[in-house]
Amino acid sequence: MSERLEKHLFIAGPAGAEPEVLAALSEPIEPHYGPEFVAKYNECRALFKQALRTEGDLFLIVGPGTAALDAAMASALRDGARVLVPRNGWFGLRTAEMLRAHRCEVDEIEFELGQPIDPDVVAERLAGGDYAAVSWVHHETSTGVLNPVEPISRAAHAVGAITILDAVSSLAGTELLVDDWGIDLCAAVGNKGLAAQPGLAAITVSERAWAAIDANPDTRGWYLDLRVWRRYDREWAAWHPYPTTVPSGILAGLTTTLRLILAEGLDERIVRTRDAATRIREGLRNLGFEMFVDDEHASPITTSVLPHPDLSAEDMLVALRERYQIYVSGGLADLAGKLFRVGHMGRGINEEETELLLNALAELLQEARTAPTENAGVEGANA
Ligand SMILES: Cc1ncc(COP(=O)(O)O)c(C=O)c1O
Repeated sequence: MSERLEKHLFIAGPAGAEPEVLAALSEPIEPHYGPEFVAKYNECRALFKQALRTEGDLFLIVGPGTAALDAAMASALRDGARVLVPRNGWFGLRTAEMLRAHRCEVDEIEFELGQPIDPDVVAERLAGGDYAAVSWVHHETSTGVLNPVEPISRAAHAVGAITILDAVSSLAGTELLVDDWGIDLCAAVGNKGLAAQPGLAAITVSERAWAAIDANPDTRGWYLDLRVWRRYDREWAAWHPYPTTVPSGILAGLTTTLRLILAEGLDERIVRTRDAATRIREGLRNLGFEMFVDDEHASPITTSVLPHPDLSAEDMLVALRERYQIYVSGGLADLAGKLFRVGHMGRGINEEETELLLNALAELLQEARTAPTENAGVEGANA
């Protein structure tokens, strides 16, 4: 067990899991059907709904967060549906790409990197077009900016459009109120703020979303069609309320972390996440780093940081990994080499962990000052 805990994940997800979660993962494999297992699935689903603050429908889909997004798009949007995508980073760009793959007609509004989406601009554009949906990212993980949700939902509903939110990296790190904010299809995942093993994603479905799904004459595939998931949920409720195999260990790990987080209190967890981000930002500034996003718009979930003048981002990431088993994300796509990102999720928000990272960086910078290295770029970093 101790060996498993030696990797210190400060990447922008997946996050390091608590020992109780790792223990649950190694429980014996069990059949994925029958009343006993269905009770476990339903418990996990109920806890996930609590975390997302929804009383609507929720399906736990076997797959990454992208599977939940694909399920939302494939089910609710007919071929040629017009969708508005306000975006301010790589994950927003990816949203537009996914929608085009779903044969939607996509209109994009681009906002500056490091700045949040302006809901007034979105509302204005929505009022001037016949949109079936608005699809955007809550926490833009490529830069660490939190985007507004409720005002965009309100503007969308005012013109009869549904809302599809990518909340993959925001859940459990910041407030996320699915029902109160009118999110019709909210995609989330177990392995970021919830700090479980990757493998299970969640999609919530409002009444408004069901109306759009039921009115959609098109299908794109079967596994990620929410009509299929609803049918199994109803018709096989007692013994197998999902269309395929659910991994028992991953489910047990997810339930365990949800229990831990909800017992701590979601609000308390969010405060602890924010405190970790504050400690890291302050500590990094004290070491001479500059932040990519100003404090007003910086998310508590990921901190984007410009490389230090005394140490290239690449050398820093490699040294952290090789010498301290500390993992930090680089910049994505156009931002490769221009910044690095520290995730505030899972075990990485614990005080001893944030201290470990700041101490390691202080040591590396001290060494770099005595033997400076050349500034080099970072490639191919994970999200
Ligand atoms: C905002 C956002 N959306 C989507 C994804 C993709 O999630 P997954 O890799 O679980 O499919 C990520 C992963 O980092 C993300 O941060």
